[in-house]
Amino acid sequence: MSAWHVLAGPLALRAGTVDVVLAPLSHRLDDESLLDAGELRRADRLRRTADRALFVATHATRRRVLSSMLGCGPAEVVITTEPGGKPHLAEDTGVVFNDSGCADAVVVAATVAARGDVRLGADLELPDPGLDVHDLLPVVCAPAEERVLRETPASLLPERFLRLFTTKEALLKAVGVGLTIEVREVVLDVAGDLRPVALPAQLGHPHSWWIRACEPPTGHVVIVAAHGFTRAPELRCWLQPSGSPAPGS
Ligand SMILES: CC(C)(COP(=O)(O)OP(=O)(O)OC[C@H]1O[C@@H](n2cnc3c(N)ncnc32)[C@H](O)[C@@H]1OP(=O)(O)O)[C@@H](O)C(=O)NCCC(=O)NCCS
Repeated sequence: MSAWHVLAGPLALRAGTVDVVLAPLSHRLDDESLLDAGELRRADRLRRTADRALFVATHATRRRVLSSMLGCGPAEVVITTEPGGKPHLAEDTGVVFNDSGCADAVVVAATVAARGDVRLGADLELPDPGLDVHDLLPVVCAPAEERVLRETPASLLPERFLRLFTTKEALLKAVGVGLTIEVREVVLDVAGDLRPVALPAQLGHPHSWWIRACEPPTGHVVIVAAHGFTRAPELRCWLQPSGSPAPGS
Protein backbone atom coordinates (compact mmCIF):
# COMPACT_ATOMS: atom_id res chain seq x y z
CA MET A 1 0.00 0.00 0.00
CA SER A 2 1.36 3.42 -0.96
CA ALA A 3 2.07 5.98 1.80
CA TRP A 4 0.41 9.37 1.35
CA HIS A 5 1.93 12.57 2.67
CA VAL A 6 0.45 16.03 3.04
CA LEU A 7 1.91 18.40 0.46
CA ALA A 8 3.28 21.23 2.57
CA GLY A 9 5.62 22.98 0.13
CA PRO A 10 6.76 23.13 -3.48
CA LEU A 11 7.39 19.72 -4.98
CA ALA A 12 10.76 19.00 -6.61
CA LEU A 13 10.12 16.53 -9.40
CA ARG A 14 12.93 14.15 -10.31
CA ALA A 15 13.76 11.58 -12.95
CA GLY A 16 12.95 7.98 -12.00
CA THR A 17 10.24 9.09 -9.58
CA VAL A 18 6.56 9.60 -10.29
CA ASP A 19 4.90 12.17 -8.02
CA VAL A 20 1.16 11.86 -7.66
CA VAL A 21 -0.81 14.75 -6.17
CA LEU A 22 -4.47 14.31 -5.24
CA ALA A 23 -6.17 17.66 -4.72
CA PRO A 24 -9.74 18.44 -3.67
CA LEU A 25 -11.51 20.65 -6.23
CA SER A 26 -10.77 24.25 -5.35
CA HIS A 27 -13.99 26.17 -6.16
CA ARG A 28 -12.32 29.51 -5.35
CA LEU A 29 -13.35 32.95 -6.45
CA ASP A 30 -10.26 33.44 -8.59
CA ASP A 31 -10.51 30.04 -10.34
CA GLU A 32 -11.68 31.46 -13.67
CA SER A 33 -8.91 34.06 -13.78
CA LEU A 34 -6.30 31.27 -13.86
CA LEU A 35 -7.57 29.69 -17.09
CA ASP A 36 -6.16 30.51 -20.53
CA ALA A 37 -8.23 31.57 -23.54
CA GLY A 38 -8.59 28.01 -24.84
CA GLU A 39 -9.82 26.72 -21.48
CA LEU A 40 -12.29 29.60 -21.20
CA ARG A 41 -13.63 28.83 -24.70
CA ARG A 42 -14.14 25.19 -23.71
CA ALA A 43 -15.83 26.28 -20.46
CA ASP A 44 -18.18 28.58 -22.38
CA ARG A 45 -19.26 25.74 -24.67
CA LEU A 46 -20.73 23.91 -21.66
CA ARG A 47 -24.41 24.79 -21.42
CA ARG A 48 -25.18 23.50 -17.91
CA THR A 49 -23.97 25.80 -15.14
CA ALA A 50 -22.86 22.83 -13.04
CA ASP A 51 -20.77 21.38 -15.91
CA ARG A 52 -19.12 24.75 -16.50
CA ALA A 53 -18.35 25.18 -12.79
CA LEU A 54 -16.84 21.68 -12.63
CA PHE A 55 -14.68 22.34 -15.70
CA VAL A 56 -13.42 25.66 -14.30
CA ALA A 57 -12.68 24.20 -10.86
CA THR A 58 -10.96 21.15 -12.37
CA HIS A 59 -8.67 23.21 -14.62
CA ALA A 60 -7.90 25.76 -11.89
CA THR A 61 -7.04 22.97 -9.46
CA ARG A 62 -4.85 21.25 -12.08
CA ARG A 63 -3.04 24.56 -12.66
CA ARG A 64 -2.46 25.02 -8.92
CA VAL A 65 -0.96 21.53 -8.64
CA LEU A 66 1.24 22.03 -11.71
CA SER A 67 2.40 25.40 -10.42
CA SER A 68 3.62 23.76 -7.21
CA MET A 69 5.67 21.39 -9.37
CA LEU A 70 7.02 24.03 -11.74
CA GLY A 71 7.64 26.90 -9.33
CA CYS A 72 5.53 29.46 -11.20
CA GLY A 73 2.09 30.96 -10.71
CA PRO A 74 -0.94 28.83 -11.70
CA ALA A 75 -1.93 31.24 -14.49
CA GLU A 76 1.62 31.11 -15.89
CA VAL A 77 1.53 27.37 -16.61
CA VAL A 78 1.37 27.12 -20.42
CA ILE A 79 -0.39 23.99 -21.61
CA THR A 80 -0.72 22.73 -25.17
CA THR A 81 -3.06 19.98 -26.25
CA GLU A 82 -2.64 17.14 -28.75
CA PRO A 83 -5.45 16.74 -31.32
CA GLY A 84 -6.74 13.77 -29.26
CA GLY A 85 -6.91 15.93 -26.12
CA LYS A 86 -3.75 14.93 -24.22
CA PRO A 87 -2.26 17.98 -22.49
CA HIS A 88 1.48 18.78 -22.34
CA LEU A 89 3.55 21.60 -20.95
CA ALA A 90 4.40 24.02 -23.74
CA GLU A 91 7.81 24.86 -22.34
CA ASP A 92 10.51 22.23 -22.71
CA THR A 93 11.01 21.65 -18.99
CA GLY A 94 11.42 17.88 -19.34
CA VAL A 95 8.34 17.51 -17.12
CA VAL A 96 5.87 14.89 -18.30
CA PHE A 97 2.42 14.79 -16.72
CA ASN A 98 -1.09 13.53 -17.03
CA ASP A 99 -4.19 14.35 -15.04
CA SER A 100 -7.65 13.10 -14.27
CA GLY A 101 -10.67 14.51 -12.51
CA CYS A 102 -13.92 13.41 -10.91
CA ALA A 103 -16.75 15.20 -9.11
CA ASP A 104 -14.68 16.23 -6.10
CA ALA A 105 -10.98 15.90 -6.87
CA VAL A 106 -8.17 16.10 -9.39
CA VAL A 107 -5.10 13.93 -9.63
CA VAL A 108 -1.89 14.93 -11.38
CA ALA A 109 0.97 12.46 -11.96
CA ALA A 110 4.29 13.92 -13.07
CA THR A 111 7.94 13.15 -13.53
CA VAL A 112 11.05 14.52 -15.19
CA ALA A 113 11.78 12.54 -18.34
CA ALA A 114 15.24 11.02 -18.44
CA ARG A 115 14.50 9.56 -21.89
CA GLY A 116 12.43 10.60 -24.87
CA ASP A 117 9.92 7.77 -24.55
CA VAL A 118 8.73 8.54 -21.01
CA ARG A 119 4.95 8.58 -20.89
CA LEU A 120 2.51 8.83 -18.01
CA GLY A 121 -1.20 8.15 -17.88
CA ALA A 122 -3.28 8.84 -14.80
CA ASP A 123 -6.85 7.97 -14.05
CA LEU A 124 -8.97 8.81 -11.03
CA GLU A 125 -12.35 7.29 -10.27
CA LEU A 126 -14.79 7.57 -7.41
CA PRO A 127 -16.42 4.20 -6.58
CA ASP A 128 -20.11 4.22 -7.48
CA PRO A 129 -22.13 1.79 -5.32
CA GLY A 130 -24.97 1.88 -7.88
CA LEU A 131 -22.81 0.71 -10.80
CA ASP A 132 -24.12 -2.44 -12.51
CA VAL A 133 -20.82 -4.20 -13.06
CA HIS A 134 -22.29 -7.31 -14.71
CA ASP A 135 -23.67 -5.26 -17.61
CA LEU A 136 -20.26 -3.67 -18.17
CA LEU A 137 -18.13 -6.82 -18.09
CA PRO A 138 -18.56 -7.68 -21.82
CA VAL A 139 -17.91 -4.06 -22.82
CA VAL A 140 -14.74 -3.54 -20.79
CA CYS A 141 -13.20 -7.00 -20.43
CA ALA A 142 -11.34 -9.39 -22.69
CA PRO A 143 -12.78 -12.94 -22.45
CA ALA A 144 -10.02 -14.09 -20.05
CA GLU A 145 -10.59 -11.09 -17.76
CA GLU A 146 -14.36 -11.60 -17.83
CA ARG A 147 -13.96 -15.25 -16.79
CA VAL A 148 -11.88 -14.25 -13.75
CA LEU A 149 -14.25 -11.46 -12.72
CA ARG A 150 -17.36 -13.65 -13.06
CA GLU A 151 -15.76 -16.04 -10.53
CA THR A 152 -14.92 -13.18 -8.15
CA PRO A 153 -17.02 -13.02 -4.93
CA ALA A 154 -19.82 -10.44 -5.30
CA SER A 155 -18.46 -8.39 -2.39
CA LEU A 156 -15.10 -7.89 -4.16
CA LEU A 157 -16.34 -7.54 -7.74
CA PRO A 158 -17.11 -3.77 -7.89
CA GLU A 159 -13.68 -2.80 -6.58
CA ARG A 160 -11.78 -5.28 -8.81
CA PHE A 161 -13.75 -4.16 -11.83
CA LEU A 162 -13.14 -0.48 -11.13
CA ARG A 163 -9.41 -1.04 -10.68
CA LEU A 164 -9.30 -2.95 -13.97
CA PHE A 165 -11.15 -0.23 -15.86
CA THR A 166 -9.13 2.57 -14.26
CA THR A 167 -5.86 0.83 -15.19
CA LYS A 168 -6.95 0.40 -18.79
CA GLU A 169 -7.88 4.07 -19.01
CA ALA A 170 -4.53 5.11 -17.49
CA LEU A 171 -2.67 3.05 -20.12
CA LEU A 172 -4.72 4.49 -22.98
CA LYS A 173 -4.26 8.03 -21.64
CA ALA A 174 -0.50 7.53 -21.39
CA VAL A 175 -0.27 7.18 -25.18
CA GLY A 176 -2.91 9.84 -25.78
CA VAL A 177 -5.49 7.64 -27.51
CA GLY A 178 -7.94 7.52 -24.62
CA LEU A 179 -11.12 5.58 -25.23
CA THR A 180 -10.86 5.81 -29.02
CA ILE A 181 -9.37 2.32 -28.72
CA GLU A 182 -11.47 -0.66 -27.70
CA VAL A 183 -10.74 -1.15 -23.98
CA ARG A 184 -11.20 -4.91 -24.40
CA GLU A 185 -8.01 -4.95 -26.48
CA VAL A 186 -6.04 -3.93 -23.40
CA VAL A 187 -5.66 -7.22 -21.51
CA LEU A 188 -4.44 -7.16 -17.91
CA ASP A 189 -3.55 -9.73 -15.27
CA VAL A 190 -6.78 -9.18 -13.41
CA ALA A 191 -6.17 -12.10 -11.04
CA GLY A 192 -2.80 -10.60 -10.07
CA ASP A 193 -1.26 -7.14 -10.02
CA LEU A 194 -3.01 -5.76 -13.14
CA ARG A 195 0.16 -5.76 -15.24
CA PRO A 196 -0.49 -5.71 -19.00
CA VAL A 197 -0.64 -9.12 -20.67
CA ALA A 198 -1.57 -8.10 -24.24
CA LEU A 199 -1.85 -4.62 -25.73
CA PRO A 200 -2.90 -2.95 -28.99
CA ALA A 201 0.08 -2.03 -31.19
CA GLN A 202 -0.05 1.69 -30.23
CA LEU A 203 0.90 0.82 -26.65
CA GLY A 204 3.97 -1.26 -27.48
CA HIS A 205 5.21 -4.25 -25.52
CA PRO A 206 3.29 -5.17 -22.33
CA HIS A 207 6.54 -5.50 -20.38
CA SER A 208 7.50 -1.88 -21.12
CA TRP A 209 4.84 -0.63 -18.68
CA TRP A 210 4.77 -0.10 -14.93
CA ILE A 211 1.37 0.05 -13.28
CA ARG A 212 1.03 1.74 -9.91
CA ALA A 213 -2.14 1.67 -7.80
CA CYS A 214 -2.01 4.59 -5.38
CA GLU A 215 -4.85 3.81 -2.90
CA PRO A 216 -5.48 7.22 -1.29
CA PRO A 217 -7.20 7.43 2.10
CA THR A 218 -10.06 9.36 0.43
CA GLY A 219 -11.46 6.15 -1.11
CA HIS A 220 -10.77 7.21 -4.72
CA VAL A 221 -9.19 4.73 -7.09
CA VAL A 222 -6.01 6.24 -8.57
CA ILE A 223 -3.90 4.37 -11.10
CA VAL A 224 -0.79 5.56 -12.90
CA ALA A 225 0.63 3.85 -15.99
CA ALA A 226 4.29 4.67 -16.65
CA HIS A 227 6.41 3.91 -19.72
CA GLY A 228 10.06 4.54 -20.58
CA PHE A 229 11.56 3.85 -17.13
CA THR A 230 14.58 1.54 -17.10
CA ARG A 231 13.67 0.34 -13.61
CA ALA A 232 10.53 0.46 -11.47
CA PRO A 233 9.78 4.15 -10.85
CA GLU A 234 9.66 5.31 -7.26
CA LEU A 235 6.15 6.51 -6.41
CA ARG A 236 5.55 9.48 -4.08
CA CYS A 237 1.93 10.22 -3.21
CA TRP A 238 0.77 13.60 -1.94
CA LEU A 239 -2.50 14.94 -0.60
CA GLN A 240 -3.08 18.61 -1.10
CA PRO A 241 -4.87 19.73 2.07
CA SER A 242 -8.43 20.88 1.52
CA GLY A 243 -9.05 24.61 1.91
CA SER A 244 -5.41 25.66 2.01
CA PRO A 245 -3.71 27.36 -0.91
CA ALA A 246 -1.61 25.02 -3.00
CA PRO A 247 2.10 25.57 -2.51
CA GLY A 248 3.21 27.89 -5.28
CA SER A 249 -0.20 29.50 -5.75
C1 LIG B 1 -9.03 10.81 -22.37
C2 LIG B 1 -10.38 10.32 -21.93
C3 LIG B 1 -10.30 8.82 -21.73
C4 LIG B 1 -10.71 11.05 -20.61
O1 LIG B 1 -11.81 10.49 -20.04
P1 LIG B 1 -12.52 10.92 -18.65
O2 LIG B 1 -12.56 9.72 -17.79
O3 LIG B 1 -13.76 11.59 -19.00
O4 LIG B 1 -11.64 12.02 -18.01
P2 LIG B 1 -10.40 12.08 -17.01
O5 LIG B 1 -10.81 13.00 -15.94
O6 LIG B 1 -9.83 10.76 -16.64
O7 LIG B 1 -9.28 12.80 -17.89
C5 LIG B 1 -9.56 14.01 -18.46
C6 LIG B 1 -8.29 14.77 -18.64
O8 LIG B 1 -7.28 13.95 -19.23
C7 LIG B 1 -6.57 14.73 -20.18
N1 LIG B 1 -6.81 14.15 -21.50
C8 LIG B 1 -7.77 14.47 -22.41
N2 LIG B 1 -7.64 13.71 -23.51
C9 LIG B 1 -6.58 12.91 -23.28
C10 LIG B 1 -5.95 11.90 -24.06
N3 LIG B 1 -6.39 11.58 -25.27
N4 LIG B 1 -4.90 11.25 -23.52
C11 LIG B 1 -4.46 11.57 -22.28
N5 LIG B 1 -5.01 12.52 -21.52
C12 LIG B 1 -6.06 13.18 -22.01
C13 LIG B 1 -7.11 16.15 -20.10
O9 LIG B 1 -6.38 16.89 -19.17
C14 LIG B 1 -8.50 15.89 -19.60
O10 LIG B 1 -9.08 16.97 -18.92
P3 LIG B 1 -10.08 17.92 -19.73
O11 LIG B 1 -11.00 17.04 -20.49
O12 LIG B 1 -10.78 18.70 -18.68
O13 LIG B 1 -9.20 18.75 -20.57
C15 LIG B 1 -11.46 10.64 -23.00
O14 LIG B 1 -11.62 12.03 -23.08
C16 LIG B 1 -11.08 10.08 -24.36
O15 LIG B 1 -11.24 8.90 -24.63
N6 LIG B 1 -10.55 10.85 -25.26
C17 LIG B 1 -10.11 10.26 -26.55
C18 LIG B 1 -9.88 11.21 -27.58
C19 LIG B 1 -11.14 11.92 -27.95
O16 LIG B 1 -12.21 11.38 -28.02
N7 LIG B 1 -10.95 13.19 -28.21
C20 LIG B 1 -12.04 14.05 -28.54
C21 LIG B 1 -11.49 15.30 -29.16
S1 LIG B 1 -10.84 14.95 -30.74
